[in-house]
Amino acid sequence: MSTAEHRLPDGPYDAVWASPGRVNLIGEHTDYNDGYVLPFALPHSTIVGARRLERPEWTVTSEQMGETVTFGPGEKVTGWAAYVAGVVWVLGEAGHDVPGAALTIASDVPFGAGLSSSAALECAAMAALLDLAGDDVPLPLRPRLAQRAENEYVGAPTGIMDQSASTLCRAGHALFLDCRSLATEQVPFDLSAQGLAVLVIDSKAPHAHVSGEYAARRRNCEEAAKILDVPALRDVEPDGLEAALARLDDPVMRRRVRHVVTEDQRVLDTVTALRAGDARAIGPLMTASHASMRDDYEITVPQVDTAVSAALAAGAYGARMTGGGFGGCVLALVDADRCAAAEAAVREAFAASGFTPPDAFVVTPAEGTRMVSR
Ligand code: GLA
Repeated sequence: MSTAEHRLPDGPYDAVWASPGRVNLIGEHTDYNDGYVLPFALPHSTIVGARRLERPEWTVTSEQMGETVTFGPGEKVTGWAAYVAGVVWVLGEAGHDVPGAALTIASDVPFGAGLSSSAALECAAMAALLDLAGDDVPLPLRPRLAQRAENEYVGAPTGIMDQSASTLCRAGHALFLDCRSLATEQVPFDLSAQGLAVLVIDSKAPHAHVSGEYAARRRNCEEAAKILDVPALRDVEPDGLEAALARLDDPVMRRRVRHVVTEDQRVLDTVTALRAGDARAIGPLMTASHASMRDDYEITVPQVDTAVSAALAAGAYGARMTGGGFGGCVLALVDADRCAAAEAAVREAFAASGFTPPDAFVVTPAEGTRMVSR
């Protein structure tokens, strides 16, 4: 039983569902460019216990926030409960008859750390509400609905990666997702068999201007695709990258395009290495991805750059920021018996720079959306 399950107050509930947070092994800011991503699910999850109400009203209680929010059909909700209200809204839009419900939420997904606590909440709420409604929407169709809730109801212009990861990931695997066709492949990612581990370092950097910068990156990519006359930047082949860059006047736009095109290729190369059972080979790809996010996409901050450098200096095979950027977490691929040393090196580097001490934990790929028995 996870900590989140322990935290859920006793019911009675008619349905209890869990969805995890995620880290992205590689493929950042590629999802909204119709490209490739390779996330895996965290053992940390959000649990939603749902009880049917006989009136069209939703009451959402968050243990973490210590708050209850109530809303009726069509009502506009803001703050954390908007992720639940958005799901109620989008299910209605998609023609589902969502019964009124009292939802209780418990989570151990770190909040504001770029680990998709919001997608975990959306996906668990969706699973619980569909269960109450007696509707069986196939899992592969759910990420698009949850993304729509986030884009149109909450108003965040995110791609489809986080909701796909939270819904579709399988234990022991990374999810290779083509964000255009939505084709998936579960790529075995059992590091312990190779004596390796992924260390997650939460940089604790305060997220500033995240949503504005995210939207600006997305807009810039869409403008570039228009100028290059392709449906999306995914359609620029690595072979044609130099020619494409030569057609763009704006040096900032050129850097953004270079990141997206090279990052898509790094995802493909990572998948090839993992299929061949060579996890160490993905280290340099991770580190190159970080350099690209730092220099071309310009979404890193000193804390994450410091964490990456310190982990590499302590012997990590590769390290990179994961998620939308401007703070959040770093992943380091290390020998399993070097985790403590890598963590210590990062802590020391943070102390030397006067940064807030980071958090660090080792992760293994966990299961996506699942029913929790009570
Ligand atoms: C956030 C968004 C995702 C994706 C990543 C960057 O997590 O929610 O859709 O764009 O940033 O890869």
